[in-house]
Amino acid sequence: MIDRATRDKLIVALDLPSYDQARALVDRLGETVSFYKIGLELLFSDGLSLAQELKQEGKRVFLDLKFLDIGNTVEHAVRAAAKLGVDFITVHGHDTKTLRAALRGRGDTNLKLLAVTVLTNLDQADLDEQGIAATPSGLVIGRARMAENAGFDGVIASGQEAAAVRAETDPQFLIVTPGIRLPGAETGDQTRITTPEDALRFGANHIVVGRPINAAPDPKAAAETFLAHIAKG
Ligand code: C5P
Repeated sequence: MIDRATRDKLIVALDLPSYDQARALVDRLGETVSFYKIGLELLFSDGLSLAQELKQEGKRVFLDLKFLDIGNTVEHAVRAAAKLGVDFITVHGHDTKTLRAALRGRGDTNLKLLAVTVLTNLDQADLDEQGIAATPSGLVIGRARMAENAGFDGVIASGQEAAAVRAETDPQFLIVTPGIRLPGAETGDQTRITTPEDALRFGANHIVVGRPINAAPDPKAAAETFLAHIAKG
């Protein structure tokens, strides 16, 4: 029997083009999955209605909207999102001004704020192009420290950076890790991948799994396989 705390370690990304497809997947997964991520694609297909439905059904919800704007806009956007009663939201962790604006918007609600450190599709050449004199991993660690110092609850980090972030931050600081694949599985466009066991061993609190579950012929069986790996990890 897998307990709720173990189930909550698995966040299934509802990266689907319509509300109906996302709703059908959630219904098919039933009690197997307790935590969902809604991102920019589903946002434009009634994703926020689904987020509220999921909360009413006792699920946890991560809105992956990756805010980055002037402080006033970020503050008000986070305040509006907090009213939906969702659990996690993402903000780009580039500067303390943005992080503090998000914290003001969150106020005394239970919404947890996660900073996106460096997107996992960016490499050294992309940082050079932006005039950033740091390595991707150095920047991830620096931004994780900045997010923790500002009062954020955690970061999004690939499994390959999770251990360094865990070593540099408080044990309570959350690490949420996408780019998860079982050994030998299709990687798709992900390059910095890790297995569920490794991500958890390196310090991740939650793993985010998209296509290996949402595009599987039997999503429920796929989710159960991931949960078995999590329980083992
Ligand atoms: O299908 P797959 O498992 O690769 O999906 C990973 C999910 O995690 C996607 O929703 C993607 O947007 C998200 N994500 C990511 N890398 C980041 C931040 C979020 O893959 N750095």
